[in-house]
Amino acid sequence: MVHGLNGEIKSFRNLEDLSAAAADRIVEIIHEVVSKEGVFSLALSGGSTPKTLYKFLSTTRRDVIPWDRIHIFFGDERYISQDDLQSNFRMARETLLEAVPIPRENVHPIRTNFPDAEKAAVAYEREVREFFPGTENTFTLALLGMGKEGHTASLFPYSPALDETDRWVVPVSTPALPPTRITLTYPPLNSSRNIFFLVAGAGKREALRAAVTPSTDHHLCPSAGIKPSHGDLIWWVDTAAWPSS
Ligand code: 6PG
Repeated sequence: MVHGLNGEIKSFRNLEDLSAAAADRIVEIIHEVVSKEGVFSLALSGGSTPKTLYKFLSTTRRDVIPWDRIHIFFGDERYISQDDLQSNFRMARETLLEAVPIPRENVHPIRTNFPDAEKAAVAYEREVREFFPGTENTFTLALLGMGKEGHTASLFPYSPALDETDRWVVPVSTPALPPTRITLTYPPLNSSRNIFFLVAGAGKREALRAAVTPSTDHHLCPSAGIKPSHGDLIWWVDTAAWPSS
């Protein structure tokens, strides 16, 4: 473990290996938490990196996970139809949700069929707050990815959302396509009991170094603003993104 960094870095040869190791740790935490508390809340990340992990969870690890005790949330969503190829919900449905026996009522997508993104954000915040009794403990595990310029969920550099301290869910206009998105803000993410980043590829190297450096300004690199108030932060990375120094 490299000391003095924002979180613990676990480096692997490639995406397949880091995803398999993360899947095994997720199964361990699920068993620990469900045996004591009976329920496990998991916030999924969008993008392409987590697809390998989701595949492991829905195939080789499928039958050791008590899916009826799992509640699925989303860290962010593109404000498009859930049937659009760019929808995070569609990606999760196709790589994970369709293949596991999770009750429909346990899946909490960010709905995108409101007249506008603001109404969608308000509705999702209500659903998330209803699930968590207080504000100190939110997701048992939040999965996050990171863009090449350091964004996470749909928290992008210089976004006003980075300074949001009250709302848990906000609509944002981003430089990415599609531009309009709904995203969790730092408060609910940093109140998670476990946060796993999955980062792979040489293109993420610079952003990863910045994200784990405690002095980094989170307005420049939003992933650096993920600092759980009481939970554990683990970076599951490959050696392309984190060359062993
Ligand atoms: C999204 C994700 C986003 C993603 C990063 C990394 O909606 O796209 O929430 O934060 O994790 O953009 O994406 P890749 O894994 O595809 O590099």
